[in-house]
Amino acid sequence: MLRILLAGFGVVGRSLAEILVERSEELRRGEGLNIRIIGIIDSGGAAVYERGLNLEEMIKTKKKSGSVSHHDDYGRPGLNVLDLLDELEVDVLVDATPTNLSNGEPSYTYIRKALASRIHVVTVNKGPLALALPALKELAKHKDVIFRFSGSVGGGLPVIEFARQCARGDEIIKIEGVLNGTTNYIISRMEDGLEFEAALQEAQERGYAEKDPSLDIRGLDTAAKLVILANEVLGIKATINDVHIKGIEELRKKEIDEAIRSGETYRLIGRVDSGLEVKPTRIKREDPLAVRYSMNAVSFTTMNSGVHVILGRGAGGRETATAILRDLIEIKKKLVEVKV
Ligand SMILES: NC(=O)c1ccc[n+]([C@@H]2O[C@H](COP(=O)([O-])OP(=O)(O)OC[C@H]3O[C@@H](n4cnc5c(N)ncnc54)[C@H](OP(=O)(O)O)[C@@H]3O)[C@@H](O)[C@H]2O)c1
Repeated sequence: MLRILLAGFGVVGRSLAEILVERSEELRRGEGLNIRIIGIIDSGGAAVYERGLNLEEMIKTKKKSGSVSHHDDYGRPGLNVLDLLDELEVDVLVDATPTNLSNGEPSYTYIRKALASRIHVVTVNKGPLALALPALKELAKHKDVIFRFSGSVGGGLPVIEFARQCARGDEIIKIEGVLNGTTNYIISRMEDGLEFEAALQEAQERGYAEKDPSLDIRGLDTAAKLVILANEVLGIKATINDVHIKGIEELRKKEIDEAIRSGETYRLIGRVDSGLEVKPTRIKREDPLAVRYSMNAVSFTTMNSGVHVILGRGAGGRETATAILRDLIEIKKKLVEVKV
């Protein structure tokens, strides 16, 4: 039984709850994953029940009143993650709070406190990873707890797991990827004939881009994901400050049209080999990285077995929640191995 504290009950947190409502019996039988969500926190406070919250009720309460903390029996307005890490016996903190690439907060403090208290952590939040992944990994190792973040790159696409497979008996020497669906959608629509501003507006209307899309457009979201891959796949102890970043804000339709006339196109590509770099890059239209619209694609160049590419939809609530489940299954398996 894993006792879980779920921080964040937005698109991803609620998707996780929905999937657990639908599939928890199947996960228990098939994967031996027995989950009890003992606390949920959103920006208004928490809901807490140590015997396990009824997730359908929590989803209804959130929809109806805006915060789980308004639940009649289990609501605790004003309580935060730090309070509950002190109060409850938690096995895993699942962090689905908003990304902050300036200082990683409040997630950074939550994750540090959980790891320091010997609580395993699963996060999908790029902020603390982009700014302090080497230090957080070190802390997890020192405290002998498991720290997983597979949903932070590629949403539900198992990019990190795929890389681990590519590296078995081989060595990855370069990673290149289209890691941000929003900018890829904008560039694709510019190929279709729209100007930058119109393509951006359409991406916002369709819910691909945030209201403030600057982290995507300026290349920072791609850089954060690149840093996570560099650390996890290549063992490079980098942070976002080590990345040379150029976004797509200056890319004009005229340049894209000219590339297309030569059988090429632009993609916002994050690359790590000897250094880390994000920039709009001209590539052949038949290049596997020339994926269209909100797709992601990542290629791993290996020493001996060539180039391996993974592609798919890189975001979405249910997709990302599935990555959280994958991490929880891995944690459960590791804990069983330790016991044996
Ligand atoms: N959506 C995706 O496709 C996707 C894919 C990969 C990774 N991610 C990452 O997953 C995380 C969550 O994304 P999302 O789309 O679910 O965002 P979201 O819909 O904005 O949800 C964020 C949730 O966090 C809550 N929250 C805010 N401050 C908090 C705090 N201090 N303590 C506890 N909870 C707090 C919010 O509360 P309220 O509900 O009260 O506002 C909300 O429930 C982000 O870091 C994002 O980058 C998302």
